Amino acid sequence: MIPDKVPHDDVYRAPQELVKRAHVPNFDKYKELYLKSIQNPDDFWGKIAEDFFWKTPPTGKFLDYNFDVTKGKIYVKCMEGATTNICYNVLDRNVHERSLGDKVAFYWEGNEPGDELTVTYSELLQQVCRFANVLKSLGVKKGDRVSIYMPMVVELVVAMLACARIGAVHSIVFAGFSAESLFDRIMDSQCCILITADGFYRGDKLVSLKVIADDALQKCTDMGVSVQKCIVLKHLSKEEPGSQSPPAKRPCPDLQQERPRENVRKTHPKPQVPWNPEVDLCWHTLVGGASDECEPEWCESEDPLFILYTSGSTGKPKGVLHTVSGYMLYTATTFKLVFDYQSDDVYWCTADIGWITGHSYITYGPMANGATSVLFEGLPTYPDTSRLWEVVDKYQVTKFYTAPTAIRLLMKYGSAPVQKYKRDSLKVLGTVGEPINPEAWLWYYSVVGEKRCPVVDTYWQTETGGHVLTPLPAATPMKPGSATFPFFGVVPAILNESGEELEGPSDGYLVFKQAWPGIMRTVYGNQQRFEATYFQKFPGYYVTGDGCRRDKDGYFWITGRIDDMLNVSGHLLSTAEVESALVEHPAVSEAAVVGRPHPVKGESLYCFVTLRDGVSYTSVLETELKQQVREKIGAIATPDYMQNAPGLPKTRSGKIMRRVLRKIAQNERDLGDVSTLADSSVIEQLFNNRCPTAV
Ligand code: PRX
Repeated sequence: MIPDKVPHDDVYRAPQELVKRAHVPNFDKYKELYLKSIQNPDDFWGKIAEDFFWKTPPTGKFLDYNFDVTKGKIYVKCMEGATTNICYNVLDRNVHERSLGDKVAFYWEGNEPGDELTVTYSELLQQVCRFANVLKSLGVKKGDRVSIYMPMVVELVVAMLACARIGAVHSIVFAGFSAESLFDRIMDSQCCILITADGFYRGDKLVSLKVIADDALQKCTDMGVSVQKCIVLKHLSKEEPGSQSPPAKRPCPDLQQERPRENVRKTHPKPQVPWNPEVDLCWHTLVGGASDECEPEWCESEDPLFILYTSGSTGKPKGVLHTVSGYMLYTATTFKLVFDYQSDDVYWCTADIGWITGHSYITYGPMANGATSVLFEGLPTYPDTSRLWEVVDKYQVTKFYTAPTAIRLLMKYGSAPVQKYKRDSLKVLGTVGEPINPEAWLWYYSVVGEKRCPVVDTYWQTETGGHVLTPLPAATPMKPGSATFPFFGVVPAILNESGEELEGPSDGYLVFKQAWPGIMRTVYGNQQRFEATYFQKFPGYYVTGDGCRRDKDGYFWITGRIDDMLNVSGHLLSTAEVESALVEHPAVSEAAVVGRPHPVKGESLYCFVTLRDGVSYTSVLETELKQQVREKIGAIATPDYMQNAPGLPKTRSGKIMRRVLRKIAQNERDLGDVSTLADSSVIEQLFNNRCPTAV
């Protein structure tokens, strides 16, 4: 299945300097290891597991699973019988067994240039133990769910690792999500505690996070559910929130150092921090009184580690559940091999920890390797479009990982902002989140990496836990736009509509034939949805929901989603979720949302709304509807285009023909076969009403 030979021409290869030191130095080595990983996973992963700490060793097979719904329940189990703790493995093991206590774990770079912190592995261990003790003192136990709604600060890493240390299950909600989205996630995961912050700046925009969090908590109370405590980190406000007296000394790393932060932010307005003494607790007061010692809770391999919500095609987000051992081994190994991690690297992933990329490739994967990373709170364009490259030079970043949407955004400003900085430390570049168009790949490769750095286009999902199709930088000749070949232990196939495996050059559904350690275990609280979403369509396979093409050389090319999902700036959104936000408005009777190609975001949202009788379509209403979607889901779901649709194109059985709507959104007159359309007169009306800005 992996080709014997890879092409000589029209491919890009790593420079010799990188190849010389690489863990997997050539394609033959990759092939040899790949075969071993799928033919004998016990040996392959067993060897990797030897580097980790196990309180008790595994007793059974390395991996046990069933992917076939016709044979019973779908399950995946990895390293049954073993007990461990992931927090111990990413912190204590580095500090006590690998002498990495003084090594920098994170260079934190704030939104404002000059706002910075450095945290070592032993400092982080101390902070995590303190916060773990705080959680325990509040009654949080193994298996309890804890919601975390925080900006990109060191304390976010502390909070997630503290949960992992005591066996609690973290459910991180991206801080750009709305109160409604936070409320939905708290309710679904039945969290007992919420951890949040006063607020943060995104560029020059203040986000008053606590106000939003309170709104979500109020919604919970209205539903008769009370989240017992809300821990609030003072990130922006120096004053003690609420009526509690200020602690003598803030024991978090950012107060132990003389920070330039207050100077940097002198002129910035502070957020409002409403305070309810019955529920709210100050982070700093709590950790101030906590002990540095906290024995980890020894967890079973298949104990839950975290829940992370991702969009689902039926509208309601799915709580993807990952478990301890398999996820740990998989994120650690993919990180090491895909970025060809070396101990002197400075690694930077620009994603937010609120998404799976941040979970796997800011916290768990890099820390399991004892890596030094940059943790970035800011934006690529703030205060100017050179910011990323300034930070690369400042910390001498060697491995850099970002999203195609950021590359396309920066491309618009040309090469001058990039060339203002040297970037000569860079060795490997990576992308994630959506297909990268060859033009953006080549710009990244030539302008940012100066043709010296391989670009690893990593394809994966919240559900897969880590990279599943990806080049290895020294081993895989790269083709711009292709995620190339499977990672170790992963067996992809391309199926046609009848579920037959296609061989050779082909185009169809991307599926995986066997389990790997990092795959999700279930949808939290909804095994039936897990099976229906990923395993029902083609029994025996995990169905990704993505289309894929294999070329004559055996390279895989992701062609995009083939379900009702959109990928806006690397974030998955379900059309159903946006539609349901729109129809909640009293003026709307029906809505249909489709994706429209966008030069920077990849896709943008184009919404068709049918209004109730007697309501007229005005610009005021349009603004209100856009605002409604923002409030229900979050700013990432803000519609770009909206139009009045007195009628929608439907089949005789009443199904909306989205294929036709996609053409209208793009102003393409060639609609293909419309013979099943119930009322063809709506088409002309829809073209006439097109959103004028969608040229
Ligand atoms: O459609 C694929 C796209 O992002 C989806 C997964 O989104 P999410 O679960 O939010 O995780 C994003 C970060 C891993 C996939 O189903 N996708 C992700 N990476 C790529 C990609 N599409 C093409 N190429 C990629 N490298």
